[in-house]
Amino acid sequence: MADEFTSTYDVIVIGAGAAGMMCAAVAGQGGKKVLVLDHAAKLAEKIRISGGGRCNFTNLHATPANFLSENPHFCKSALSRYTPQDFLSLVKRYHIAFHEKHKGQLFCDESAEDIIRMLKAECDLGRIQWRMSCGVDEIQKSEQGFIVQTAQGRFLTANVVIATGGLSIPKIGATDFSYRVARQFGLKIVEPRPALVPLTFDAPGWAAFVPMAGISLEVDIETGEKKNKIVFREDLLFTHRGLSGPAILQISSYWQPGQSIRINLLPEVALADELIAAKTTSKKTLANFLAAYLPARLVDGLLVAYEFDGSVKIADMQDKRLRLLSEKISRWELLPNGSEGYRKAEVTRGGVDTRELSQQTMMVNKCPGLYFIGEAVDVTGWLGGFNFQWAWASGVAAGKAI
Ligand code: FDA
Repeated sequence: MADEFTSTYDVIVIGAGAAGMMCAAVAGQGGKKVLVLDHAAKLAEKIRISGGGRCNFTNLHATPANFLSENPHFCKSALSRYTPQDFLSLVKRYHIAFHEKHKGQLFCDESAEDIIRMLKAECDLGRIQWRMSCGVDEIQKSEQGFIVQTAQGRFLTANVVIATGGLSIPKIGATDFSYRVARQFGLKIVEPRPALVPLTFDAPGWAAFVPMAGISLEVDIETGEKKNKIVFREDLLFTHRGLSGPAILQISSYWQPGQSIRINLLPEVALADELIAAKTTSKKTLANFLAAYLPARLVDGLLVAYEFDGSVKIADMQDKRLRLLSEKISRWELLPNGSEGYRKAEVTRGGVDTRELSQQTMMVNKCPGLYFIGEAVDVTGWLGGFNFQWAWASGVAAGKAI
């Protein structure tokens, strides 16, 4: 009774973002009849704004260790079957100019639009059909397959792929759709929370640091204890409201409310030793001595915050005081009171519990034909192109399996 439907398909992919377009292209090129639906008017808004408009489209050093998940082994299969080099070959085939920024992060030279055009061209090769500005009212499983009810018609499909991402940046169309579908089909969800997000601090405690807004420096940053401790060496940026920059974004994915973060502002320097050794050789004041290592504005702020007189000559200071100050600088402990939330988060941590899915195909174990890919799944990458690599790899895994 196919004619009661607007059309029938082998696959309907819901979400025309990174993972959805990749999955659709692979399934379409594999000979499947594919429809992609999205409630947004434009394709892949997140690719468009990613990497400051240049899309950090993969990371050459991506391994499963760069991903967070309650089930850290889950991502291994898909990541090993579609690697950064595979995506890079595609980028080269389309003659998209790119460069490595640092630490294996690959960016477009020109624009993120190049990646969107490439994915669209790949979808065209697979003869993908599109329904944009098309919200989904309901998905039902019937004996004939999945019925997808939308504002633009009622479609029948053998397979449905949920690629609607996470909750970050609602302004450009993020919704909780993937979690709603998961709940509808009785799947567990790992609690979603904002990740790769600036952290915030109590306003009175932060007042001493506000004048440092704009300062950026490379630090070691850590959170957690013992075997749960994680450390990143990245740039830290002081802002008017708190801290940001790659160091904070990275640690935010691991930070739990109530936990402290610790920052070594001078990771390459044994500061206490240098200060004590300089007592016999240097006539400098404390502030002048430290200004050789750290931005002067930061030194002033730290000395005020920790009640040290910067005008005292280091030669006149007790070793104990110098050690105390060094400890404050190399182990600056802060208690964030929260984060800037989904409005600013680059990704959502958590999502559909991977124990519900096949790691080879991304299909729901107890519901054949239903797939979840990309950020909707409880696999979250570090900052630096890892999240797109997961989107491509999980999209390919599902697209090939269907
Ligand atoms: P994605 O969010 O891309 O796509 C989901 C699609 O589903 C969207 O098109 C949306 O409109 C649609 N949708 C949502 N709800 C729907 C509904 N109810 N009905 C129909 N359609 C619906 N990562 C990286 O590796 N390198 C980078 O440079 C960056 N940079 C970056 C910058 C910023 C500002 C952000 C916010 C994020 C990044 N990221 C990133 C993260 C990266 O963008 C993200 O992990 C991927 O886009 C996830 O791909 P998905 O396809 O899973 O979701």
